[in-house]
Amino acid sequence: MTSVPGTAPSPADSDLVRAARGLPVARTPVWFMRQAGRSLPEYRALRAGTRMLEACQDPDLVTEITLQPVRRHGVDAAILFSDIVLPLVVAGVDIEIKPGVGPVVADPVRTVADVDALPDLEPERLAFLQTAVRQLVAELGPTPLIGFAGAPFTLATYLIEGGPSKEHARTKAFMYAEPAAWGRLLDRLAISAATFLRAQVDAGASAVQLFDSWAGVLSAADYGERVLPHSRAVFDGLGDRDVPRIHFGVGTGELLPLIGDAGADTVGVDWRVPLDEAARRVGPQRSLQGNLDPAVLLADRETVDREVRRVVEQGRAARGHVFNLGHGVLPDTDPGVLTHVVELVHELSAR
Ligand code: CP3
Repeated sequence: MTSVPGTAPSPADSDLVRAARGLPVARTPVWFMRQAGRSLPEYRALRAGTRMLEACQDPDLVTEITLQPVRRHGVDAAILFSDIVLPLVVAGVDIEIKPGVGPVVADPVRTVADVDALPDLEPERLAFLQTAVRQLVAELGPTPLIGFAGAPFTLATYLIEGGPSKEHARTKAFMYAEPAAWGRLLDRLAISAATFLRAQVDAGASAVQLFDSWAGVLSAADYGERVLPHSRAVFDGLGDRDVPRIHFGVGTGELLPLIGDAGADTVGVDWRVPLDEAARRVGPQRSLQGNLDPAVLLADRETVDREVRRVVEQGRAARGHVFNLGHGVLPDTDPGVLTHVVELVHELSAR
């Protein structure tokens, strides 16, 4: 990668890191959740014949797949190609990612004994991840690498349901019926997520994002009491590592006043709540990330442009704004549209 004259020379001083901290930026930074993945033909070619969780443990594949969208779209950040279930897999939990389905757990966690039998994640087992991060940081130059982990609640939904689910009813039933074991499960998942994040930051990641994708299924009361303290434990586990912390979930409109309290510098917002309203709910101490509806990218160019303008405008109400989608890139998205969105956001926001 070559650095463009006039852009920040170091990832720690990049627009992504600055916006996440509420500092002035040259242009609104933009990246896309799931920017690496099936929308890119070069990804599909590279992944052919390798299972998802194997690919995630091959440092050269991780490096190349992570770089693909940065080269193609000129986004302001790379996000490590990995998965939220990887720390569990590395610890020895039998999980597979089924194409078109998502993570499937061979022996779901259904009893108190199952919770106590979960293996711990030994940090030494993350050497492959640190190799990938170091290679990436060397290749990326001034472009920051975002490390990430799954938040305890969202990981618990996969472990308890045994796979993807809509209502997360088993998860909630376990949370209500076995509060002590629930607390232990989320404690353990928080320790493993913090270990996973520390490995990435210590190898050179410039920011972290904690995905609590499914927290929006909870009431604010349950979220605040039974989930948020464990998400906070993940961020606390980063100690004084000086990287901005992004926290994202889907359908979290009612949780926005709380979600930053877990320790985020930047709160990710889906498309349901406009960013000016989200800024009121989150408060002036935090930046926002989001929130173009990924489905808009499947519409006509005029609609795309109108919606991108709206998000950029409404984002000005926030302390800082990192442009993103409200959730991941849909596999059918034309990658050319993603490149166009990057250019348009930069053009609209150039200071
Ligand atoms: O580009 C990026 O955003 C970085 C890579 C990334 C992946 N998964 C790669 C991936 C990230 C950040 C994740 C996080 C993740 N994984 C989340 C949180 C983000 C979110 O979407 O809310 C969740 C819930 C998962 C669990 C998971 N893994 C799901 C639901 C799926 C999709 C299943 C499918 O095939 O539709 C996966 C698989 C997965 N993770 C893919 C990718 C690129 C698709 C694998 C493939 O190519 O077949």
